[in-house]
Amino acid sequence: MADGERATKKRAQRIDMNYFKRPHPFRRWRFWLSVSVPLLAILWIAWHGLTGNKRVYSGGPMSPAHAVLAAKCDACHFEMAGFFSQKTSDRACLACHDGPIHHANQVFTPKCASCHEEHRGLARLAATSDAACTQCHSNLRTSGAPTKFVRDIENFGSGHPEFAVLHSGSSDPGTIKLNHAVHMKKNLKGPNGEPVQLDCDDCHRPPTSTDAWRFGSATPMAIPAAQKSDLLPQKSDLAAMVLARAYMAPPTYVKTCVACHSLQFDKRFTESVPHDTPEVVHKFLVERFQQYIAAHPAEVRVTGPVPGLPQKPQPVAVRVLTPQQWVTERVAESEQLLYGKTCKQCHALSVSSGSELPVVAKSNITPRWLPHANFNHDRHQLVKCTECHAALTSHETADILIPGIATCEKCHHSGADGAESRCFECHTYHDWTKAKAVKGKLTLSGLGD
Ligand code: HEC
Ligand code: HEC
Ligand code: HEC
Ligand code: HEC
Ligand code: HEC
Ligand code: HEC
Ligand code: HEC
Ligand code: HEC
Ligand code: HEC
Ligand code: HEC
Repeated sequence: MADGERATKKRAQRIDMNYFKRPHPFRRWRFWLSVSVPLLAILWIAWHGLTGNKRVYSGGPMSPAHAVLAAKCDACHFEMAGFFSQKTSDRACLACHDGPIHHANQVFTPKCASCHEEHRGLARLAATSDAACTQCHSNLRTSGAPTKFVRDIENFGSGHPEFAVLHSGSSDPGTIKLNHAVHMKKNLKGPNGEPVQLDCDDCHRPPTSTDAWRFGSATPMAIPAAQKSDLLPQKSDLAAMVLARAYMAPPTYVKTCVACHSLQFDKRFTESVPHDTPEVVHKFLVERFQQYIAAHPAEVRVTGPVPGLPQKPQPVAVRVLTPQQWVTERVAESEQLLYGKTCKQCHALSVSSGSELPVVAKSNITPRWLPHANFNHDRHQLVKCTECHAALTSHETADILIPGIATCEKCHHSGADGAESRCFECHTYHDWTKAKAVKGKLTLSGLGD
């Protein structure tokens, strides 16, 4: 016990009581560091303050589109009497570009900054989160009449509705008869009877295509000067070209049918009637036969039944007609052939009261099937047409060949192996038809750094 006490005392005497009073290199360092670091910080802030650089206060890296504004905090943030607000106002954003409202009947309007999250270094500021949309679309309310759109959408992978055009009972409103299965079969009879294999792009191309049409008219119609435009996308403008190739142009007779389906009207002529309204066709026929009979006056002597009369047994008589009678009979014969067979093969014809000529139904080829979403064929060139469109087995025009949501989900799904599946990929938020032009106010020297 006594031995233990002595040992403790001895050890205590070894402690140097003045240790902290004597100078030491470490303590000198601590002192100078604690004074100089805040001083440097103040000097640094003061220096940037004096030179007008406000990046030091920044909330994080700007997205690339706004990088040129990295030093112009006041373009977006209020600064009043030296007071800097971390909040931004929609008015500030609107001074440089419009962001038109989504729908007039939305019950509130979110702030620009709530969807476009700045200072996160996002590669695309317009790549908004699903929450930006589902804040309304998971329980969609409208001012005024209730909405006709599905009201509970959480994300694309689950709970996004099938596209409205594919709901049961809908059909293609087009009236041009086209049997895809017949035309896509092997060894279809081509223009001169030789076998051909049609390809989708013999009939379907984007409107900007300039390649010759395989089964189009040999004498292409001249494009009226008014339809040519110097403002069409230039080949150097990739984005504009991609956009111009987004959708397919409706097929036309002159570009895609004419070589195999001619509109011949009489064996005396090799030419066809113009592909136009029955009135124009009628005028054309009258003119051609008038010219013909003037050049071949002997042909007013005809044998055989009078066209249009019931086929009761008639004595085979030779009739001598006036040129006018002859023309009327030949025109009637040709029109019988055209409207009873040729035009009818592709068109729905109806008789109109008060006219002997039939009415050709509007062709009604739908140019856009999914008007409430975006699609771009150019971005999907990697996939065979028939993976998305069941055209090879379609026999009726009424069939809808547009793919359903399950096809899109094969690629557009969450996870590292999926294409983008957030709402903005396929939808537009702003109604850009209402965008107002903005008058720029910045000067180049004002951008500073
Ligand atoms: C192009 C517009 C724009 C410019 C320029 C800009 N900001 Fe911001 N800033 C925003 C937006 C949007 C927010 C989000 C705030 C909100 O909800 O209103 C924000 C938020 C902030 C915040 C809050 C923290 C955060 O990240 O949300 C700070 C701090 C900030 N900004 C500092 C700066 C500074 C300093 C500058 C200049 C160097 C600057 N900002 C320039 C748009 C801008
Ligand atoms: C001083 C001018 C200026 C202000 C203020 C400004 N922007 Fe921009 N913004 C630009 C420019 C320049 C571009 C790039 C050109 C373009 O796309 O119009 C751009 C592009 C964008 C884009 C598209 C780019 C992308 O990456 O998707 C969005 C979205 C956007 N701004 C939102 C905002 C929001 C929100 C605010 C307000 C917080 C704002 N901007 C304030 C000048 C401005
Ligand atoms: C509910 C979310 C939301 C709000 C609120 C919102 N935006 Fe957008 N914004 C989007 C989405 C999504 C896109 C991309 C699709 C589109 O163009 O509509 C976009 C696109 C843009 C673009 C063009 C991007 C490009 O590709 O060039 C600009 C500029 C823009 N917004 C500005 C604004 C401004 C200014 C406001 C406020 C007045 C605003 N936005 C409010 C979601 C929103
Ligand atoms: C403030 C609420 C609100 C927000 C936020 C919102 N929507 Fe809407 N959305 C509506 C309303 C309201 C309608 C119109 C319903 C009607 O007319 O019956 C609508 C209609 C639509 C439609 C169908 C009509 C059309 O515009 O083609 C689509 C698609 C759509 N929204 C997508 C989006 C996407 C994508 C976002 C996010 C970027 C979004 N919405 C954000 C309220 C909102
Ligand atoms: C991969 C593409 C894609 C994505 C991602 C996507 N949609 Fe759609 N959405 C479509 C297509 C295509 C339609 C059909 C449009 C039509 O019928 O005109 C549609 C239809 C809609 C409609 C109209 C529904 C109706 O009643 O007819 C709304 C609202 C809508 N989407 C909202 C959203 C929201 C919100 C998100 C994100 C959570 C989203 N969509 C994600 C492709 C997409
Ligand atoms: C001989 C010309 C021709 C060929 C070849 C052809 N189509 Fe069509 N296609 C048409 C015509 C004419 C229409 C419009 C009438 C209709 O809706 O059936 C049409 C309509 C369509 C439509 C939109 C109408 C709907 O009902 O969805 C799609 C999609 C389509 N075709 C895909 C294809 C695909 C894919 C191929 C190749 C496998 C193909 N077509 C080959 C002439 C053709
Ligand atoms: C091989 C098929 C085919 C034949 C035969 C055919 N057409 Fe057409 N017709 C079309 C197609 C395809 C269109 C739609 C696109 C276009 O304008 O070429 C069309 C469009 C029309 C239109 C415009 C309809 C509208 O939407 O307003 C008229 C008028 C017309 N045809 C008249 C005729 C007449 C008259 C005949 C007979 C002399 C005829 N067609 C023979 C395929 C045909
Ligand atoms: C390469 C030649 C070729 C082209 C181009 C072509 N067709 Fe045909 N079409 C045929 C042949 C051959 C038949 C007869 C097939 C059979 O009966 O087996 C036919 C038959 C048809 C029929 C009757 C189909 C049936 O169900 O029996 C219609 C209607 C028709 N074509 C419309 C069109 C239209 C509209 C276009 C242009 C959009 C077009 N065709 C382009 C060769 C062609
Ligand atoms: C990844 C799926 C996909 C592929 C691959 C695809 N399409 Fe489409 N196609 C669509 C969708 C979706 C629409 C509806 C677009 C709209 O009108 O809103 C469409 C529409 C069409 C239409 C109607 C006109 C239009 O553009 O809306 C035609 C014709 C057509 N496609 C032909 C083709 C041909 C020919 C190919 C091959 C070169 C092809 N498609 C490849 C998905 C696809
Ligand atoms: C074979 C896979 C595949 C299928 C199937 C597919 N997509 Fe895509 N889609 C892609 C890829 C890859 C991109 C490019 C993604 C990117 O740019 O980051 C894309 C891009 C898009 C875009 C953006 C286009 C643009 O202008 O940038 C839209 C809209 C779209 N797809 C809609 C659809 C719809 C609607 C369907 C179903 C009818 C569909 N996709 C089916 C792979 C696919």
